[in-house]
Amino acid sequence: MTTTQNLDDSAKAILASNDKGKYTVPTHGLYPYQWNWDSAFAAYGFAQYDVGRAWLELETLFSGQWDDGMVPHILFHTIDAGYFPGPDVWGGVGPIPSSGISQPPIAATMARFVYEKNPAIGADRLAPLFEKFVAWHQWFIDWRLDNGAVCITHPWEAGRDNAPDWDGAMEVLDPVGVGEYTRRDTSHVDDDMRPTKHDYDRYLWLVQQGSRLKWDQSALLEQNPFRVADPTMTFTLLRASRDLLALGKLLGKDVKSVEKHIAILEAGVQTLWNEKLGSFDSRDVRSGRWANSISNASFLCWYGGIDKPEMLERLEQIMSKVQYGVPSFNPQDAKFDSKRYWRGPVWAIMNMLIAVGMEEMGVAQGQQIRESTQRLITENGFAEYFDPIDGSPAGGDSFTWTAAVWLGWVSPSIRN
Ligand code: DGY
Repeated sequence: MTTTQNLDDSAKAILASNDKGKYTVPTHGLYPYQWNWDSAFAAYGFAQYDVGRAWLELETLFSGQWDDGMVPHILFHTIDAGYFPGPDVWGGVGPIPSSGISQPPIAATMARFVYEKNPAIGADRLAPLFEKFVAWHQWFIDWRLDNGAVCITHPWEAGRDNAPDWDGAMEVLDPVGVGEYTRRDTSHVDDDMRPTKHDYDRYLWLVQQGSRLKWDQSALLEQNPFRVADPTMTFTLLRASRDLLALGKLLGKDVKSVEKHIAILEAGVQTLWNEKLGSFDSRDVRSGRWANSISNASFLCWYGGIDKPEMLERLEQIMSKVQYGVPSFNPQDAKFDSKRYWRGPVWAIMNMLIAVGMEEMGVAQGQQIRESTQRLITENGFAEYFDPIDGSPAGGDSFTWTAAVWLGWVSPSIRN
């Protein structure tokens, strides 16, 4: 029988088995390095029983910060031939081998959660990180804004790799000269759960372009044809800035720049409102077109501190079509695919971010999302993501962030 105690123990065992000492891999095989937002969730998971280890996770992440402030989406600490594309393809220019793009900036928010677990330890560990968080956020503000909304320059940057949000912007890319390559992801996971070759050719073309330009942001701004203003980035940066403001005040730091970031982003999120769709949406900056995508990122508004009653209506429509919410894409749209990564499956991490925001803003449906996540994991384990129709596990298994979300937000033992 699966008991709460068993599941808590399994979640801790997953964190322990994915722990490489100073950082945690998302799962063995499929993702053998340190990923940015995965690592922030790992810190959150560790904080439930080992606050020191949680801070170490964040410290290791920031040891890869570039001179310009960017914190890469992958840090290649120890080379693993089982992953492609590796550091030779990326050509990152930071202090340790890395990718050349970033990922949703949730680290300051997770640092606040970690801090709150033990403020006595937290103040010492947080103080040296504070300016690093500010520099990272400033990098987004300097290089990635379009009318105050945060843009991605590669689909992997949003963390939602193959979301329908990018289909329009990806279609116009011509992946000429990308050459022959061997994917490694589909040797670990069924290919109907992963992005298509059409997408992969374009992912690699974008990596090759960035590497050729030595990840010079002004050159990329001019030359990169892929630039999409994204609710994931915009809401997470807004939220992280609010958390950083609170932490900065606690530490007695100068928070003027953080206050400015918040004002810019609060205006920016309004430019992601697609009136016709009645939802927050992604906006292709190059073509000026909406993606017309109601995704799980659209529902991060509450996490960003923005209450929007229309989004509650959208949520109810979407949840009524699936057994387990929140699907990563609108099940009523022809592009919905219940197994293919970010085109339909449910992600426990996104559920947590969405519902934490709702619960904090007093929106009752947040609790339903938490209960749905509890059923999903109890019945189907600690998968990377799940089919929202039947709950079946998909992608990698023994997944760090699903275990972390269980330990910090889902497990019934938290509220006993
Ligand atoms: C992958 O390899 O699929 C990752 O999502 C890239 O970050």
